[in-house]
Amino acid sequence: MIIPVSLEGRAYPIHVVDEGLGGLGAAVAATLPTGPIMVVTNPVVGGLYLDATLRSLAAAGFSPRAFEIPDGERHKSVATWATLVEDLLGAGLRRSTPVVALGGGVTGDIVGFAAASALRGVPLVQVPTTLLSMVDSAVGGKTGVNSSHGKNLVGAFYQPRLVYAAMQTLRTLEPAELRSGLGEVLKHGVLRDEALFALCEQQGERAVALDGAVLGEMVERSCRVKAEVVALDEREDGLRAILNLGHTAGHAVETAAGHGTLRHGECVALGLVAEVRWAAARGDCPPEVVHRVEAAVARLGLTIRTPPLSPQDLLRAAGYDKKAARGMLRTAVVERIGAVRLEAVGLEELPRMLALLP
Ligand SMILES: NC(=O)c1ccc[n+]([C@@H]2O[C@H](COP(=O)([O-])OP(=O)(O)OC[C@H]3O[C@@H](n4cnc5c(N)ncnc54)[C@H](O)[C@@H]3O)[C@@H](O)[C@H]2O)c1
Ligand SMILES: [Zn+2]
Repeated sequence: MIIPVSLEGRAYPIHVVDEGLGGLGAAVAATLPTGPIMVVTNPVVGGLYLDATLRSLAAAGFSPRAFEIPDGERHKSVATWATLVEDLLGAGLRRSTPVVALGGGVTGDIVGFAAASALRGVPLVQVPTTLLSMVDSAVGGKTGVNSSHGKNLVGAFYQPRLVYAAMQTLRTLEPAELRSGLGEVLKHGVLRDEALFALCEQQGERAVALDGAVLGEMVERSCRVKAEVVALDEREDGLRAILNLGHTAGHAVETAAGHGTLRHGECVALGLVAEVRWAAARGDCPPEVVHRVEAAVARLGLTIRTPPLSPQDLLRAAGYDKKAARGMLRTAVVERIGAVRLEAVGLEELPRMLALLP
């Protein structure tokens, strides 16, 4: 299955395949001329999939070279990016040399920014190996690293030339990482695809049990949602902000609980519940939407209980002070399953929303 991302002059395909990485080389060769190619991964993903990646690229006529960056969010830094760029340049990177990001969202974001910045931009291939990176970070062109001032503060919009999601790679993923991706899948359903939501609602357990057909359809539909929204508003001047559904309340939980306690996607699911409850309380969506979202969260094996956190800590973590300067909260308001609108509401809505966390 190939899902097109329709950006003028920078359109690219997302391949979603049931298999492993055997077909990667042929897919890259169909998009980019063969020659040297640089593959970047971390020790965990490299240990599992680097050989298959290099073999596939070599069989398609490329001359691949491998590079390693450390694993983990704490290494998503300017230092890791700088070392990687130096390594790539030292290995003879040219404007035409593709760089492949093999791994989850951390790898994709760092390598994407290295590809955006080295020589002012070389062709980038995203090979996401976590569910979250397949349905979210590998699509849409946001790349970057963290700064001491906050997450993702250094980066660039830079679209890949191709995304290759090999579903078999999900088989080695930790269950908690799979769940994290499912939170973002559910979000995509709520905001733009009722059939995707219904799939979560009816087949959630099968996704958790790594049923290939169910997960494959979830990835395809999620990529379509993200691709459509990004095509309408590539640089987040407006509409793209609907992708932050569940993230206002979700980020607050993630930050207040301390990163690493709950996975990002689990917090997004809690945030989704709070935000649909809030929309229903305002009369923007019918109450049954709330029940359906809560039930779907449970069926996906996601937690439906927020850890004990004080309202003050949550407000602080939600960036209340920064938002107070603007006096406004810009948020996606759920109207029904599959439809949201973007609205600027008064800041007094933020504590109300956070109070509705499950
Ligand atoms: N660019 C964007 O638009 C965007 C969107 C959402 C999230 N993000 C970023 O994505 C990052 C989170 O990504 P993530 O959830 O993929 O985390 P991650 O990249 O840290 O991966 C999670 C863990 O799983 C391991 N792993 C990856 N693939 C595996 C596999 N197939 N089998 C076994 N282990 C595997 C990784 O090495 C890592 O230890 C965050 O930094 C976030 O800011 C970016
Ligand atoms: Zn997210």
